[in-house]
Amino acid sequence: MPTLAMPPDVSEASSSATLTLPDGRVLELPVLRDAAGATFLDVRRLYPEHAVCTFDPGFNSTASCASAITYIDGENGRLLYRGYPIEELAKYGDMMDCWHLLLRGTLPTRAQRVVFQRDARGHRMVHEHLIRFFNGFQHDAHPMAIMVSVVGALAAFYDKDHGLDYDDATTRDLAGLRVVGKMTTLAAMAYKTAHGQPIVYPRDDLNLAENFMYMLFGLPTRAYEVDPVAAKCLEVILMLHADHEQNASTSTVRIAGSSKANPFACVAAGVASLWGPAHGGANEAVLAMLEEIGTVENIPKCVARAKDKNDPFRLMGFGHRLYKTVDPRARLMRDMCHDLLTHLKVSDPLLLIAMELEKTATKDEYFTSRRLYPNVDFYSGICFRALGIPKNMFTVVFAVARSVGWISQWCEMAGDTPSRISRPRQMYTGHPERRFVPVAERGGEECADEKEAGSFETLEAVERRIVDVKVAMPHP
Ligand code: CMC
Repeated sequence: MPTLAMPPDVSEASSSATLTLPDGRVLELPVLRDAAGATFLDVRRLYPEHAVCTFDPGFNSTASCASAITYIDGENGRLLYRGYPIEELAKYGDMMDCWHLLLRGTLPTRAQRVVFQRDARGHRMVHEHLIRFFNGFQHDAHPMAIMVSVVGALAAFYDKDHGLDYDDATTRDLAGLRVVGKMTTLAAMAYKTAHGQPIVYPRDDLNLAENFMYMLFGLPTRAYEVDPVAAKCLEVILMLHADHEQNASTSTVRIAGSSKANPFACVAAGVASLWGPAHGGANEAVLAMLEEIGTVENIPKCVARAKDKNDPFRLMGFGHRLYKTVDPRARLMRDMCHDLLTHLKVSDPLLLIAMELEKTATKDEYFTSRRLYPNVDFYSGICFRALGIPKNMFTVVFAVARSVGWISQWCEMAGDTPSRISRPRQMYTGHPERRFVPVAERGGEECADEKEAGSFETLEAVERRIVDVKVAMPHP
């Protein structure tokens, strides 16, 4: 079972910080350190004991939970899954290692791998009735729109009436296997639906990436041979996207799950959050941007737009909340992109544009002073294109990859004791309490429809009417 992610106890606080409030009250806040030595002010008792809140929209300085799954060192561009560097996992491991590591906390032993692989592959099928959902979509539906629906629909097949128990670690683990097992199947079915092709059923004899490619590109009319180099490339892409601390979609899954909602419904919420162009939708947006740039001569214009504060345009695939240097996944993706294109004997003009754009932006003072560098999405689209995956499927592939992270984080959260519902506070900027104004007293021009409906009652008339009704009603 996974290692627990208990937050450090206040009694373990090594020191405290002193906070002086404007009214003169002096508060002692415990200072905690995490496993990486980072410092945290413990504000858990701040509101309950002192009626003071912290204000941090976007959670720039707020740890929403304690977690033992993934660690990002943004200053040095390092990413670890349960302590293992992403570069080593990508080079020496495979998706079974990655899934076992994230879901269960350890790299599997040889014996564990055999059982785990058999179990995970055994969950690839979906209920035949679920397949009927796909028929409800238009042929041009965005596959992410389909995914939000069909992933959520899994909740109708696996809930507490079917043995799912939020408080039981074994059934949570089973939910995890079901999520990761079925995501590729649903994603491939969404692709087939959006392309008007017959659905291809999964095969247990293929590994994750091979099976995914087979379900995406296989047709009943001809044999489909999976290219092992292309499949390995897809597997590495899936591993690079598998988890990433408390990003927007993962936090969405945790917040949804904190109410003890169905985990499949929570993962659907994660899919929805991932879709946005500031998050997982950026890979699609990067490719659209590169296509729009068209030639290297247009790069300066695009960079100038990204720097213009009056223009909402941003350089897609650039910048990250945590990485203040190149995202390590972007580096791996760039190298893999070259290898894949060489293997496939493909020359993609967008790769040249992307490389020139990276060179220009990383020399520009605007980007260097803000420490904006390529992120994972900058080169992933070019890899996807080479693999034959269309633009509207990029974020779907990201969702398939991230599903293991979402459900591992959900399992970790559900195992926390005590578990508390996520309920942020707000800084209210609205009107102070005021008296309701009846329509008749709101002013403005009388319109034709009002004349037909008759005049509106005043507040006094409404109150009189309510009293009359109460008097007329027999006492219960
Ligand atoms: N192009 C131009 N300017 C940028 C960009 C960009 N891509 N990213 C950030 N900035 C500027 C921003 O305007 C701000 O400037 P100033 O300080 O003058 O106001 C400064 O850099 C800091 O930006 P921010 O918006 O406060 O940073 P954030 O941490 O809130 O946002 C981000 C992070 C990833 C949403 C943002 O960098 C962005 O929109 N990037 C483009 C979209 C993208 O590639 N998203 C994929 C993220 S990685 C995959 C994933 O995890 O989903």
